[in-house]
Amino acid sequence: MRARRLAAAIWRLTVGAMFVVGAICAAVALRAQEMQPGLWPAPAHRTVAREAEADALADQLLTNMTLDEKVGQMIQADIASITPAQLRQYKLGSILAGGGAAPGNDMRTTPKAWLDLTNAFFSASLETGSTTHRAIPIIFGIDAVHGNAKVVGATIFPHNVGLGAMHDAPLMRRIGAATAQEVAAIGVDWTFAPTVAVVRDPRWGRAYESYSESPLLVAQYAAAMVEGLQGAPDSADFLGPGHTLASVKHFLGDGGTLGGRDQGDDQAPETVLAQVHAAGYPAAIEAGALIVMASYNSWRGTKLHSSHYLLTDILKGQMGFDGFVVGDWNAHEQIPGCTKYDCPAAYLAGVDMLMAPDSWQALYSNTLSEAKSGAISAARIDDAVRRILRVKVLAGVFDRAPPLQRPDAGQFDVLGAAAHRDTARQAVRESLVLLKNEHGILPLSPHSRVLVVGQAADDIGTQSGGWTIDWQGDHNTQEDFPGATSIFAGIQSAVTAAGGTAVLSADGSFDARPDAAIVVYGEGPYAEFEGDRETLEYSPGDTRDLTLLHRLRSQGIPVISVFLSGRAMWVNPQINASDAFVAAWLPGSEGEGIADVLFRAADGSIAHDFTGRLGVSWPRTAMPATFDGVKEQARGALFARGYGLDYAQAGSAAHVAHLDEDAHVPADRRTRDTLYHAAHVTAPWSIYLADAGLGAGAEVRLTTARQESPLRGLVVSQDSTGVTARWSGAAPTIFRIAGRAVDYRSRSDTNTAIEFRYRIEQAPTESVLIGVRCMAPYYRHPADAPGNVTTTSSAWKCGSERGAFMDLTPTLKSAPLNAWRTYSYSLSCLAAQGADLSTVEAPFAIATSGRLTLTISEVRLLRQKAVPRCGGG
Ligand code: BGC
Ligand code: BGC
Repeated sequence: MRARRLAAAIWRLTVGAMFVVGAICAAVALRAQEMQPGLWPAPAHRTVAREAEADALADQLLTNMTLDEKVGQMIQADIASITPAQLRQYKLGSILAGGGAAPGNDMRTTPKAWLDLTNAFFSASLETGSTTHRAIPIIFGIDAVHGNAKVVGATIFPHNVGLGAMHDAPLMRRIGAATAQEVAAIGVDWTFAPTVAVVRDPRWGRAYESYSESPLLVAQYAAAMVEGLQGAPDSADFLGPGHTLASVKHFLGDGGTLGGRDQGDDQAPETVLAQVHAAGYPAAIEAGALIVMASYNSWRGTKLHSSHYLLTDILKGQMGFDGFVVGDWNAHEQIPGCTKYDCPAAYLAGVDMLMAPDSWQALYSNTLSEAKSGAISAARIDDAVRRILRVKVLAGVFDRAPPLQRPDAGQFDVLGAAAHRDTARQAVRESLVLLKNEHGILPLSPHSRVLVVGQAADDIGTQSGGWTIDWQGDHNTQEDFPGATSIFAGIQSAVTAAGGTAVLSADGSFDARPDAAIVVYGEGPYAEFEGDRETLEYSPGDTRDLTLLHRLRSQGIPVISVFLSGRAMWVNPQINASDAFVAAWLPGSEGEGIADVLFRAADGSIAHDFTGRLGVSWPRTAMPATFDGVKEQARGALFARGYGLDYAQAGSAAHVAHLDEDAHVPADRRTRDTLYHAAHVTAPWSIYLADAGLGAGAEVRLTTARQESPLRGLVVSQDSTGVTARWSGAAPTIFRIAGRAVDYRSRSDTNTAIEFRYRIEQAPTESVLIGVRCMAPYYRHPADAPGNVTTTSSAWKCGSERGAFMDLTPTLKSAPLNAWRTYSYSLSCLAAQGADLSTVEAPFAIATSGRLTLTISEVRLLRQKAVPRCGGG
């Protein structure tokens, strides 16, 4: 307690100076926006071990560090863009391995390669001492968000949405402890978990990273997870061997953005922000959390990374958070006036360490100049660095040996250890929610003949979801999961052990008539904005799963649906077509957990009943009037939060009446083939602006309608009509809708085209080109990876970095001004010119070096049965 008070006093002193300067502006800002600090939870009380030692060492180091060294501590770089030698030179505070990064750029590398990598970076940091002070070790971070799932062979726990359904905080603690051991095994010190978002709109691509729509449950889990990962804050065990630093993310309001748009704007009133979205933070801080990650999203138009009020006044002030705030992946570049290479505003708002994966080097020199000029005050720098150093002392890294010599690292049998897999399997059992069980079809007898059907039945990649081995998790095959069990394999071993038979049939065909069919289907893997959806309809336009259910049903075979998804979805037709329906979420590597509950034991008894209850409300329609789970519940969700059947409920209690099968979704919103529609870019696409002379490295991603374009030649604005691009003629520039490589090949008798609706406001003065850009997956531009990557022409799959284009000039020159027109260009024709359609990264790109003003209201993909007419039209 005393140490805490002392720390608080020091904190007050250090930021005192900033307050004097900032107080007037802050007061004005508070009044102008009617901010109400009083609404927020009171400061959390906690003691953590070695607080006095942390203060003393941090102070001693601070007195002796140079400004360069201080700035270094405030930056985190990604392994894809920094070498240990560079770390030794720049003395950065932290290194991360992002979702797309791995040792040697090999996502499927060995645990030993991971350990060697962390060892190389940590050892390099041990050489950063000077004549005046000892070396300051780095902390190495990774996204172990459902187990240490980037590493092949690790235990993969269910994603958070499934864990929420367990309502079991003690089990959460064990999951945290097991995860920490697997993280420590490869010499990593820090995981970017838990996510304590309170999801309100399940269309959000990160809905599965949220435990629940209930702030209460999120708060309970936040505390349990932090304690599991780090150990109890007041114990000798705290951050000792086998534990790992947690970070609580994303502060704040990530689960409440408008339309569920990732990185979007949360417009919640301050009460809702404080009482719903912030619920996890005081709990996590009390449980010992020392790091909070700032969020990409905005609150009422202000990016969180620039919110002094929320980061400094509320989090550090009102909530008494004395750890440090880390930024998110280049998130600072979204602040008006910032680039990823330069952003004093984020530091001034209260971010202590910026995550600058590929941009760290320029950020370092710009921040150093700003520190020297006083644009970032000495007091702010010292406050940030003191916080980082304190956390490093509290985490014990000053006493830690390099990973190769650590007692808790290098024993790779910890990865995927039997005890951890048992914990994960228990979590799978407890996460399953039974939504329907007509005629008591479940539990099944293990003596029966079961047909296991569906594309996802024997697919550990799909059952694990995003953030698995790589960022999106959508390139994984069965070989990537040694020691793991698919849902089919789990069923097969349960059934064969009892003398029954289980046959796998992806398409539902069979030779011997089965007693029952278990059909496993659901969402494919995705992460972050790539998972944003327009509606909650499952697989719009693709009825293959439903057809399968109907076909089995019509043959008189009882059908059990096991539905895999990162969120509650509108599946009324699928529920109608099933005798039993199980929401299985994203269960991870231990697929047997499903058979554990679906089948009786060999002796006929029920070994495991369904205990999972929904942590999120299940929607009645594909487009609920409000997508807010809690409001949805009030209106009458199909299944309210807390719903879930078990084997005790039979007959009418387990009966679900026939559900409305009309999705009530306007046709233009059903198709995934819309790239852009009325100021809304559809995931995985974003708008990028690029200087044609400089290539991809000079690209800016447009994330808010208000964002300024730093390019000389092109200014873009959006309103509800669409996006207006104004080329000034100052430099050749490209407007792109781009994302990541998508396969646009189609059968040769189909013309795949892009159609867009546009209005010319100023006719072109020079030639205008339209086309696509293609590139190899995971390719990073050299400008983004200083010193580490060399350009290989093979990375660009459409001839050049700029892409493959055709001439749009005559069309635009002859189009009347201010009138809407549509134009389509055939991808097949671009392919004939050498574009590789298997890896289209930007399906829409317009370039000119002259003047032109154009508004685009819609861009979509067409697949037509027609011979391509090359040249467009
Ligand atoms: C995500 C974070 C993650 C970070 C590092 C960001 O894009 O928003 O949740 O921790 O990347 O991979
Ligand atoms: C990284 C992720 C990061 C994402 C952000 C990816 O390339 O690997 O860690 O979260 O970019 O957009």
